[in-house]
Amino acid sequence: MLPQEIIRRKRDGHTLTSGEIAEFIAGLTSGAVTDAQVAAFAMAVFLNGMRREEAVALTLAMRDSGEVLDWSDLPGPVSDKHSTGGIGDNVSLMLAPIVAACGAYVPMISGRGLGHSGGTLDKLDSIPGYSTQPDTGTFRKVVRQVGCAIIGQTATLAPADRRLYAIRDVTATVESIPLITGSILSKKFAAGLQSLVLDVKVGNGAFMEKPRDAAALAASLVEVANDAGLRTAALITGMSEPLASAAGNGVEVANAVDFLTGAYRGRRLEKVTLELAAEMLLVAGLAGSQAEGLGMARQALESGAAAERFARMVHGLGGPTDFLERAHHYLPRAAVERVVAAPRDGYVASIATRAIGIAVVHLGGGRTRAEDAIDHAVGFTRLLPIGAEVRAGEPLAHVHARTQAEADEAAQRILAAYAIEDTRPTMRDVIVRRISAPSFTA
Ligand code: URA
Repeated sequence: MLPQEIIRRKRDGHTLTSGEIAEFIAGLTSGAVTDAQVAAFAMAVFLNGMRREEAVALTLAMRDSGEVLDWSDLPGPVSDKHSTGGIGDNVSLMLAPIVAACGAYVPMISGRGLGHSGGTLDKLDSIPGYSTQPDTGTFRKVVRQVGCAIIGQTATLAPADRRLYAIRDVTATVESIPLITGSILSKKFAAGLQSLVLDVKVGNGAFMEKPRDAAALAASLVEVANDAGLRTAALITGMSEPLASAAGNGVEVANAVDFLTGAYRGRRLEKVTLELAAEMLLVAGLAGSQAEGLGMARQALESGAAAERFARMVHGLGGPTDFLERAHHYLPRAAVERVVAAPRDGYVASIATRAIGIAVVHLGGGRTRAEDAIDHAVGFTRLLPIGAEVRAGEPLAHVHARTQAEADEAAQRILAAYAIEDTRPTMRDVIVRRISAPSFTA
């Protein structure tokens, strides 16, 4: 069928067949379909949505646009986690080694930060020597020997998504649940996983700010993934404050190392990490219940087994052998560090989380265009969480900047983002909702 006929059918509200979707995506991948036609298709889907079976067909067609990894030679389950992104979200750095230490294999293909949210690859790039684009042989060897490897997207995995996403980005069609679902899941299917856990963020630092939107995205992802044959569960977790007490790149790696070694563990970060680990162990079939998974994950962390996996992963991908012991020596250090003092006594009542992410970008730690270079040393540490009591003059956060002027500007942004009030705020659980696989009960 001609591409314009497929577009016309979607425009007029019909349900596309899997054959029509596969044909359109094949044309999109080969270049036979023009940018204008891809844009029109994306807008037709944006306006009319897709039925679940159409989203499944879209996901599988995009998966099949490139290479699909095969891990059938591994002796254990192959699992991964995907987060919709947030501020101070360094969970992957701890989660992959925790789950690997419990017997799963985690070939984690991560992205870079864009806009206000950080990216795991940018964090890992602050480790000297660590290769986020290793050759396939090295990637496979590290996954087999260590149990986990976190690397970047390759050109051969789901290439249809790369073209479709670039066109959506400039045609106001990013915020479409079936298109987001197909985009995220096609890459996960291409990575050859057997199970997946999604961390769908909700709140003022998240892609989906409203609980209703986050729930709709989580339900779509879980339903489409399971229908397409990937055992998948989701947690909806709060992103109305930075998850770690650090936000930036090198500073989040240092925070992750402190977490793994037990030097310092933020309470919310620990909860999200262990709950996601338990869910991964459950969907991978390594734990019989959530409680059992939680016990296994905690044991992997407390025994040092997870820290040891992390150290081996870093070394396997080209980083220093003694990174875990000497992370603070290896990580880049900003020229200026300054304290942001609380302007008054009270409790941290709310944090404009997106503004913290934007402040990291202004410091040079994030990018506004995909090709921008970033500074791995800058960011924030010791960010106080919601509910913390402070006295005037005590630190709200530490800024790491290239210059005094940039540090001062970032301090102003922190002060504007933090609301301090007289009464202690009502505390909300960071785990907002759980969507189990394969039934979709809350
Ligand atoms: N992340 C993706 O990979 N794709 C989207 O469409 C949105 C977020």
